[in-house]
Amino acid sequence: MNRKVSVYRLEHFNAAHRLHNPEWSNAENERIFGKCNNPNYHGHNYNLEVKVTGLINSDTGYVIDIKILSDIIKEHVLDAFDHKNLNLDVPEFKNLNPTAENIAVVIHDKLEKALNTDSLTLKIRLYETERNYVEYPGE
Ligand code: NI
Repeated sequence: MNRKVSVYRLEHFNAAHRLHNPEWSNAENERIFGKCNNPNYHGHNYNLEVKVTGLINSDTGYVIDIKILSDIIKEHVLDAFDHKNLNLDVPEFKNLNPTAENIAVVIHDKLEKALNTDSLTLKIRLYETERNYVEYPGE
């Protein structure tokens, strides 16, 4: 059976961030980023949806063992981001504004590297609030 199926894993982390472009004046940063430019940071309860698509393995019946997927997300994303200040604690955001868009891309690239296979495709959805979310299809 050559069937492509998508497997989803939902995860959650809390993190603080500040949106800021060091090349702009404080007034410009405040104009563009508003409350998200608060110098003392602010937090979000992020919900993360990881979608893995691939062919069903005929031996296991799995696209990917979801326990392995969950362990990879824990090791490479949750342990790195949860209860952290993204700007200060996470090296990927040292020179990258930690918007939901950029966080989704960083998560995608970390997981893609950890999965280390060309036979699975990865799509990331990141909810910054219940109503605000981004999707990165890795293309
Ligand atoms: Ni924010």
